[in-house]
Amino acid sequence: MTSNAGMTAQAYTRRRKQLMRMAGEDAILILPAAPERIRSRDTHYPYRQDSDLWYLTGFPEPEAVLVLVPGRKHGEHLLFCRERNPEREGWDGPRVGPEGAIDAYGMDDAYPIDDLDEILPGLLEGRTRVYYHFGRDTDFDLKLIGWLNRVRAQVRQGAQPPHEFLELGHLLDEMRLFKSQGELKLMRKAAEISMLAHETAMRAARPGIHEYELQAELERVFRAHDAHPAYGSIVGAGGNACVLHYVANGGAAKDGDLVLIDAGAEYRNYASDITRTFPVNGRFSKAQRALHDLVGAAHAAAMAQARPGVPYETGHNAAVETLTEGLLQLGLLKGKLEKNIADGSYKRFYRHKTGHWLGLDVHDVGDYRIDGESRLLEPGMVFTIEPGLYVAPDDKSVHAKWRGIGIRTEDDVAITDDGHEVLTAKLARSADEIEALMARGA
Ligand code: GLY
Ligand code: MN
Ligand code: MN
Repeated sequence: MTSNAGMTAQAYTRRRKQLMRMAGEDAILILPAAPERIRSRDTHYPYRQDSDLWYLTGFPEPEAVLVLVPGRKHGEHLLFCRERNPEREGWDGPRVGPEGAIDAYGMDDAYPIDDLDEILPGLLEGRTRVYYHFGRDTDFDLKLIGWLNRVRAQVRQGAQPPHEFLELGHLLDEMRLFKSQGELKLMRKAAEISMLAHETAMRAARPGIHEYELQAELERVFRAHDAHPAYGSIVGAGGNACVLHYVANGGAAKDGDLVLIDAGAEYRNYASDITRTFPVNGRFSKAQRALHDLVGAAHAAAMAQARPGVPYETGHNAAVETLTEGLLQLGLLKGKLEKNIADGSYKRFYRHKTGHWLGLDVHDVGDYRIDGESRLLEPGMVFTIEPGLYVAPDDKSVHAKWRGIGIRTEDDVAITDDGHEVLTAKLARSADEIEALMARGA
C-alpha cells in the first residue's frame, strides 16, 4: 500500500467504479501520470503526481497511464507503469511494477509502460467514446491521435474506431468537488500543519527580518510534518504585500511594516491555503488596524453565507459590499455605495475574488456557475474565503497614511449539512488575536 493515510485501495476502486458508471459501457477513459520536468540539465523538479490520477489510484510514480474500460470482460481497471529494475531502483528508489499495481492498487491488469503503443489501439477499438483531458499534455495528445489513427486504418478490416471525444473533467471535476470524510481528514491535517507554520512565522517576526527568513520558518514546519508547500509561499513586507502573487521573498521588513504571508501546506497531495497579515513589530498602527478590521468584517460577511443552498457568489458579493462601505467611511472612496459597486471603483483596492475551491489542487476543479448561474453550495464542498485590501505605495489619490498597506485574511471552509466547518479556525485572525499571539513570543 501507499503511505496515503486514511485512504485504502478499496476507496480508490470505488471512485474508479463511480466514474465508469457515469461514463457508460461504451466508453474508455485514459489518464496519464504527470510527466517529470527537467529543472536544469539532468536534474528534475520535485515530482508531483497528476491530481486526477492520484484521486483515482493513489499511484505515486511518473511514466504511468490509467485506462478504464467499463464492462470489459477481461478487466476494467488497467494500469501501464514502469517495470521493476534493480539497476534503476538503485538510483531512483523502488518502483511498484505491474505486479505491485495489481496487488496493492486494485488493478485488474497491469502492463509495462513500454507496451502502451502496442496495446492501446486494441483497447480503443470497439469503444464509441473517449474521455481524456485534451490539451493538457501535448506529447500525450499526439500519441493518442496516433493510436486512434491506427484503429481508423483498420476500418475496412471491420475495426470500429471511437467517434466521440469528451472532456474527462466534465465527469471527474464534479466528483472531486465533493470531498469525502477521508479527504476532509487529510485536509484538516494540512490545515493544522499550516496553522502551526503561520504561528511559528508570526512569533519569529521582528523588525529587520527578511521575507525569506519567515519563509524558512514556515517551510521548516511543513517539512517537519511530512508536508510540502502547496504553492509558492508568498511573504510580502510593506508595499510588497500589494503584489498579489509576490514570491520573490527577498526584502526585509522595516519597523512599522505589515507582513502578509499567504502559505499553505500540502499533505498527502491535499492543499491548505491560509493568509494572515501582521505587524512585524507586534503592534498594528491605527491606520493598519482600521483596514485590517475592515477586511475582517468582509471575511465575516462572506463566512455568514457559507451554508448549503446559498449561491457560491453570494459570499463574494457580501465581501465586496462590506469592503466598499468601509472604504467610503474611511474616505478612500467617494460617492454612493451602489455606484461604487456597480462601476467597479472598489477594484482599485480589491482586484481579486473572495475565494476558490480547494482540494488536491489549491485552485481546485469544479464549475462555479451552472447554466450561467452561480451554483448553490452543498455539503462536502471546500473553498477559501480571502478578502483583502491593497493600497499601492504610490497611490497619491489617498491620504499618505494608507499608502503601501496590503492586507489579506484567508481561511479554508468546508460546507456541512447545516452550515460550515472552518478548517483553519484555530489560527489567530483578528488584530487583537494576532497581537496577543505575537506578544507570547517564540
Ligand atoms: N495562494 C493562492 C490563493 O490564495 O489563491
Ligand atoms: Mn492563498
Ligand atoms: Mn486562496
